[in-house]
Amino acid sequence: MDKFVIEGGKPLKGTLPVSGAKNASLPLMAAAILAPGIHTIENVPRLRDVRTMAHLLRIIGARIDFEDGPSSVPSLVIDTSDCSFCEAPYELVKTMRASIYVLGPLLARFGKVRVSLPGGCAWGPRPVDLHIMGMEKLGAQIEFEDGYIVASAEKLRGDTISFPIRSVGATGNVMMAACLAEGTTILQNAACEPEIVALAQFINAMGGHVKQAGSDQIVIEGVDQLHPAKFQNIPDRIEAGTFLSAVATTGGDVTLTNLRSDHLSVVLDGLERAGFSLEIQDTSVKIQSEGRAYPVDMKTAPYPGFPTDMQAQWIALMSLADGSCTMTDTIYTNRFTHVAELQRLGADIRVEGNTALIRGVEQLKGAPVMSTDIRASASLIIAGLAAEGRTDLSRVYHIDRGYERIEEKLRLIGADIRREDEPLQV
Ligand code: EPZ
Repeated sequence: MDKFVIEGGKPLKGTLPVSGAKNASLPLMAAAILAPGIHTIENVPRLRDVRTMAHLLRIIGARIDFEDGPSSVPSLVIDTSDCSFCEAPYELVKTMRASIYVLGPLLARFGKVRVSLPGGCAWGPRPVDLHIMGMEKLGAQIEFEDGYIVASAEKLRGDTISFPIRSVGATGNVMMAACLAEGTTILQNAACEPEIVALAQFINAMGGHVKQAGSDQIVIEGVDQLHPAKFQNIPDRIEAGTFLSAVATTGGDVTLTNLRSDHLSVVLDGLERAGFSLEIQDTSVKIQSEGRAYPVDMKTAPYPGFPTDMQAQWIALMSLADGSCTMTDTIYTNRFTHVAELQRLGADIRVEGNTALIRGVEQLKGAPVMSTDIRASASLIIAGLAAEGRTDLSRVYHIDRGYERIEEKLRLIGADIRREDEPLQV
């Protein structure tokens, strides 16, 4: 397993392009199942999770190739003409929960599917009951055998589906199933994330009729069939927020490009309230940072609220703030595995329920720490970049799932970070 070695204390300077969104890429790739033929999705990041989804689609029968698109932005060419194996095996699903996204498209196109239940993750159970509820409302018969969801339907029929809580995955999965159903489907209390809007736009590019995506009520007119399409993926708002937090925490002057500033307004607002000066354009943000952040209390919420995927990074930033503040995660109530590792670097943080109480310290000191999930790893990189001395971050396969060559990107703006083979622990 690889590790990162970080020498902290160096300000970050320069310009950095943001990659395509991981959390849009995965449902977009699954949606290609809906229309047999050759699809092109531009601006897909070369991530571990994208490779996992590509592997799953190949198991189902698709052919997939990465191509270098315009200005060497990577594109995926996906041929779903010969898809036929309607199964997502446990060995794969257990490594990536987003594999569940093939449930809706396979059910809509083939009328039968067997998908492993995903199990949990580093911070607890990750249920899929809302995905299943949505498929049942569309007329699917659902059974469970040997840890698999077995779903079948002669023809899905539109209905009104009201989600008790906002779920990005369930909204996307049911939207994909509904676009080939008979009649109209209305999703109430739907997720409003930009990744859902992108998915709806791709489905519409295939000839689908999805309206009001981005609002909490989405209307889908089912069609008989869809055709392959070409689509440009949106930028990754969480990668952008992560790099902005790194500059704010470490100090420096960096411009991020190829982003959508309207997708991360609440993060930009938080950084300004923390005292950092930003120059905000539609597709770029310049951040200048010297001195410590002001403490800013934050609470995560469904989009357009503060993203739970930025919670760990924000805690890293606030661990060096000039005062105390709180971070409350209302989406995942125990997503704080990064706190114990940040404490090893000298952070003064206490967790009570789903709230972290952060008392800012003057300095963090480098130490060996361990990744536990994608965003916890990002938080530890941010803290390591700001800490005095050397930080060794182990198990970086977690971060490779969600960030494209993060150490190379950080080196481009002056960070002293390198990837090393981690000797087998005896
Ligand atoms: C997506 O996960 C993202 N993953 C997550 O990002 C992100 O944290 C999450 O949305 C919330 O924004 C991808 O898009 C691949 P949810 P998802 O369904 O769809 C509960 C990252 O780091 N729930 O919106 O799985 C659930 O437990 C990852 O990139 C049910 O109870 O999240 C949670 O409390 C981590 N039943 C809440 O809803 C269900 O059937 C929101 O989850 C589904 C979800």
